Amino acid sequence: MLDKDHNNNIGHNSLLDNNSKNKDLKTTKRGFFVDYNKEGFRIDHYNTTPLRRVIRKGLIKLGLFEYIKNVKKRLMVKYVWKKQVKNIIDKLTETKLPLFDTISIETFSKCNGGCSFCPVNKFDDPRSDVLMSESLFKKVILNLYDLNYKGQVILSLNNEPFLDKRIYDFAKMARAYLPDAYISILTNGTPLNIERFEKIIDNVDELLIDNYNDNLEWHKNVKTIMEYMSDKEIYKDKVKFRMRLENDVLDTRAGQANNRGWIKTLDISCVYPFLGINIQVNGDVALCCNDALAKELVGNVVNKNLEDVWFSKKYFDYRNKINSSRKLVPICEGCDTVDIPRRISKAKVARI
Ligand SMILES: C[S@@+](CC[C@H](N)C(=O)[O-])C[C@H]1O[C@@H](n2cnc3c(N)ncnc32)[C@H](O)[C@@H]1O
Ligand code: SF4
Ligand code: SF4
Repeated sequence: MLDKDHNNNIGHNSLLDNNSKNKDLKTTKRGFFVDYNKEGFRIDHYNTTPLRRVIRKGLIKLGLFEYIKNVKKRLMVKYVWKKQVKNIIDKLTETKLPLFDTISIETFSKCNGGCSFCPVNKFDDPRSDVLMSESLFKKVILNLYDLNYKGQVILSLNNEPFLDKRIYDFAKMARAYLPDAYISILTNGTPLNIERFEKIIDNVDELLIDNYNDNLEWHKNVKTIMEYMSDKEIYKDKVKFRMRLENDVLDTRAGQANNRGWIKTLDISCVYPFLGINIQVNGDVALCCNDALAKELVGNVVNKNLEDVWFSKKYFDYRNKINSSRKLVPICEGCDTVDIPRRISKAKVARI
């Protein structure tokens, strides 16, 4: 069931120059800007401006980059984020914690990408190739159906979803049973072609293509999709292209990103265990999407329902610990992820 017919060479096979002309350029403080290409497709850029790249490269060479990143983050935590995260969690737990509003499902356990910031890149991932059973996938979807679920369903987690040939049928099943859910899929784009794009697109609300390339070039398969879409207005809101660096330095990702070092634990709680549930190939529920190897195992949904795991004592114990201090949970101790939900997804914005 694995789809081996893909190009493994992320970032080395582009036909396209970065053709973004700075129409409506919006630079933000966090190294992120929005651009539109000549066909009018929205392109999100991360850390790609020449000045930013030069500064980052210089600081990395001098061994100062991580230090500065840590200091900046600690200041933001102290003066801005801590209060925001607390307000969100207080609001969510004011009465009974609501059901998760995002579920991520990993139907296959591996990725073909080589991103140096990612703990499950193809060089470092200790996991073996495992497919989620079709019966388990169906069980999860039927469980969501019974819950009348209207949140976000992400058909990817710490993997490349298009390496799984069944992903099209899975998306179709999810769409059929969950007409009001917001179905997303994140891909590095390399396994895509027009046939696959056509097979998936009607059954998802969002296809997010993370194009990783240090020269800011589009992978040829991503470029093919862009060209194919150019006269199809209906896809413009659905398909999102992101230009990103393959060798970026990002979050420590639960202390497991190999290109990051030790950090001083952040003095802030974390919203992830209050909002999203993450299902791995064997039904394991990991603490959060950063916990790729389920080092903090919350439960398993093979013999249990999603809501039973979500409202379990074990999950609440974890939430209480994280609220007291990240130091109480080993993977959180070394994690510098801070997400403020209104910046994540529309589904979550609606919720808060
Ligand atoms: C693990 S990937 C899986 C989906 C797909 N392979 C992709 O890259 O879009 C999901 C998201 O996690 C992000 N990610 C991976 N490692 C990260 C890190 N150390 N810090 C921040 N984000 C990270 C990726 O860039 C991607 O947007
Ligand atoms: S970020 Fe995505 S594409 Fe890159 S190695 Fe990780 S899972 Fe693969
Ligand atoms: S602090 Fe803990 S729960 Fe939050 S993202 Fe990091 S590892 Fe996950």
